[in-house]
Amino acid sequence: MSEETDKLRAYHRLSMHRPGRPPPSPGSLDWKNQPDPFRRFADAPLFDLPRPGGGSDDGPALAALDRPADLPRQPLSPASLSRFLELSLGLTAWKQVGNNRWALRANPSSGNLHPSEGYVILPPIEDAGDEAGLHHYAPERHALEKRARIVQGELSAGGFLFGLSAIPWRESWKYGERALRYCLLDAGHVLGTISYAAATLGWRARLVAEISDGELARLLGLDEADQSAPGEPEVAEFLARIELAKDEPANQAVKIGPPRGRPNRLSSAHRDWPEMAAARLALSKPQTDPPPSPPPAALLGPPPKTPGAARQAAREVIRQRRSATGMDPRMHMARGPFLRMLGRCVPDPQTVPWNGFPYPPRIALAVFVHRVRGVAPGLYLLGRDEARRAALGQAMDKPFQWKAVDGCSALHLLAPGDHRRLARGLACGQEIAGDGVFSVAMIADFAATLEAEGAWAYRRLHWEAGLLGQILYLEAVGAGLSATGIGAFFDQETHAFLGLDRQSDAWQCLYQLSVGAAVPDRRLATLPAYHHLAADRDAL
Ligand SMILES: Cc1cc2nc3c(=O)[nH]c(=O)nc-3n(C[C@H](O)[C@H](O)[C@H](O)COP(=O)(O)O)c2cc1C
Repeated sequence: MSEETDKLRAYHRLSMHRPGRPPPSPGSLDWKNQPDPFRRFADAPLFDLPRPGGGSDDGPALAALDRPADLPRQPLSPASLSRFLELSLGLTAWKQVGNNRWALRANPSSGNLHPSEGYVILPPIEDAGDEAGLHHYAPERHALEKRARIVQGELSAGGFLFGLSAIPWRESWKYGERALRYCLLDAGHVLGTISYAAATLGWRARLVAEISDGELARLLGLDEADQSAPGEPEVAEFLARIELAKDEPANQAVKIGPPRGRPNRLSSAHRDWPEMAAARLALSKPQTDPPPSPPPAALLGPPPKTPGAARQAAREVIRQRRSATGMDPRMHMARGPFLRMLGRCVPDPQTVPWNGFPYPPRIALAVFVHRVRGVAPGLYLLGRDEARRAALGQAMDKPFQWKAVDGCSALHLLAPGDHRRLARGLACGQEIAGDGVFSVAMIADFAATLEAEGAWAYRRLHWEAGLLGQILYLEAVGAGLSATGIGAFFDQETHAFLGLDRQSDAWQCLYQLSVGAAVPDRRLATLPAYHHLAADRDAL
């Protein structure tokens, strides 16, 4: 193991939640230094995108994204770019209680703190003036801020680039040392939102796996030119190609000129979280070879697709996605949609979002079935690749049943019974984990992946978990339910319950999530997403 890998493993242990001993965090919140959730670049030329919400075309149904290659392709225009960014990172609603108002977005985010910032590098677009170059997406205004021109290379009209960065301070302000994990999970969710958003337009979002952080930071104007205030650095996270035409990838061999515009300051004072900062350095990504494609034979066949589920337009599903703050403990779901949801978690390179994620699966799902008609309550395991399922089975030192579920070869019943209290307990006592119809714990093949792929793979494991989370969020809406990501869980108690050795970090839980029937919080008023934009702004 390298020194970097050891640092990360130490960080992972330090940032664990333990009963009565949360990870180092501020304790109470310093409200006067709450980070601004919206980055802006003063003096950068602004290009307002057409206002979302208009238009009569609902686009494809959620289930149609199972086969995205068949979907009609939209040309790149201000209107299609507006749709893509709205459904990736745009606002979906405002919530209000008393004088407090906050925005919700297409991507969920731990604590609604939104560390992620999105960028696009565009070729010339008809009807969009001189917009070729690097732009920052400003979600509140739904506008592009032009940061730089392309000074070397050229993007083909067959696509464009999407880059993501993170401002860890936005999360560490509330969560202290554990915040890095949340930033990485959030990035995984955004990988999901861009994949789904692209697919609704007939496009494909493909992660650029090879690029180093140094090169990516230069491409996004975040290297030495980053003028963020001390204490709130913005770091490169990932790059994706958005391919508009089949077999015509957007070329990413471009260089940008000096970036324009000063980033706004997010807080007037900051607090350092040294272990998180050291871990962030340790997981810097070097240039890497393209990942080997997973041999299809090694993957477990997905469970059967069920008709009837996910007929709603994907765009509406994305706009309606909300984390449930409470779930109705009396509600059930049907077996068909349940199997469909789990089936969508099994990688299939023909399907969104797996058509853009080049890494082989490293995460299995422990599934706590509480109330699914036709599926006995109990603990199940969804293996997502045969070899890893076998290895995890060996590591679980408990007399589990391993009974294959009829019609779903990837799912095994480990232990029948009512696990509602236990699921709640493992999720740091959060009621949603027991009140949902089912909840999951995502268990990563942790130490071996870091050893094989290097310390930076800590990031890609969290991306995989966030991506799985985004699938479950959207599929839950498609099934008439809701989901809530659970980043706060008792790490070691989850491992111990599954029979995994607490002294070893071979397998680690990275994320949990509950699916159920949302109980609306009636204290909150809801306002439309872009009601605050000028009414005369061009609409889609
Ligand atoms: C990585 C991650 C971890 C989260 N952890 C929790 C959690 O532990 N408990 C909870 O109630 N919500 C959790 N959430 C849900 C967020 O609070 C929610 O996404 C945010 O408030 C924005 O609301 P929205 O999802 O409705 O847009 C988490 C979300 C993410 C993406």
